[in-house]
Amino acid sequence: MTRVTFISANGESQAFVDAQPGQCLLDVAQANGQPLEGTCEGQMACSTCHVIVDAADFAKLPPASESEEDMLDLAAGATRTSRLSCQIMLDETLDSLTVRIPAESHNMQGI
Ligand code: FES
Repeated sequence: MTRVTFISANGESQAFVDAQPGQCLLDVAQANGQPLEGTCEGQMACSTCHVIVDAADFAKLPPASESEEDMLDLAAGATRTSRLSCQIMLDETLDSLTVRIPAESHNMQGI
């Protein structure tokens, strides 16, 4: 099980979610009401699922593919530790993961 921490764009609120191995981070985020659109549903064609990974956790993840890097180049507010959440698969080697929702993400929910 992976304990995922979502930090809101303004850093003011945190949500803790226990996710099962094999779940994709985008699905976990959406199931918990995080404001990530994920418009293309994992096809690496939108970048609206962009999250900023905690620097220490970033090193624990498998590196991004070239296509993911290309999409991240287009993501608003991307940083050195940005990833597409639809490309992050949780597994049992990862006991915790902290990500921040980027301020520029489309937020239709007014949270
Ligand atoms: Fe579109 Fe991740 S859902 S790139």
